[in-house]
Amino acid sequence: METRSYPAVYRIVHWAIAVSFLLLLLTIFLRLTWMNKHNVAAIIQDQLANTDQHVSEDQAIALAKKIRQPMWDWHIYMGYALVGLFAFRFMLPAFGRMKFQNPLGKSLSATAKFRKWTYLVFYAMVVVSLATGLLIEWGPKEWKEPLEEVHVLGIYYLVAFIAIHLAGVFWAEFTDQKGIVSRIVSGSAARSEP
Ligand code: HEM
Repeated sequence: METRSYPAVYRIVHWAIAVSFLLLLLTIFLRLTWMNKHNVAAIIQDQLANTDQHVSEDQAIALAKKIRQPMWDWHIYMGYALVGLFAFRFMLPAFGRMKFQNPLGKSLSATAKFRKWTYLVFYAMVVVSLATGLLIEWGPKEWKEPLEEVHVLGIYYLVAFIAIHLAGVFWAEFTDQKGIVSRIVSGSAARSEP
């Protein structure tokens, strides 16, 4: 089993992408739960009803969206950050750094092939999410609805990738790749490496 070492550029790009995705996921989580426009609108209506005031559901939802907006702005900021980070990551192989992992190698084990395919499929999906996100912000208005239908599906592959990735990394750590987690953090190479 190969023991990879991770140069500084790999680690910086990896953790910048990982943290940006986790923050992005947090904004989606908040939008679906505590800051859900229907929940917040119901709170507004209940609170006003206590003092005999009334707003329509549409007005309450409009207020809820305004309250949610500063939180949701971070979704957009993280989206732009990821566009920059992935553009950088995709340029690195041209400079001989962070080469794409090739899942077609004949000598690869089934696990290694699966791992490499997972990264490639993840990258393809990320490109779709980032492109649809950019087009929702900057594209023609009439494209917005169909683009959003595709864009929101991103949550499924993202959560699935993170679960498979973490399970794979920790499985490797506790079986035949001891030290892989500290190598992706500190970069220290295994003693057997050149
Ligand atoms: C505790 C959290 C995490 C740990 C310990 C970790 C660890 C690792 C390690 C050891 C590798 C190299 C695997 C190999 O040699 O094949 C790797 C690669 C990768 N990780 Fe993570 N990771 C974490 C979180 C994340 C998150 C949250 C994301 C993004 C959602 C992510 C995305 C990636 C990607 C895309 C690669 C492949 C990079 C490439 O070679 O192109 N990781 N990670």
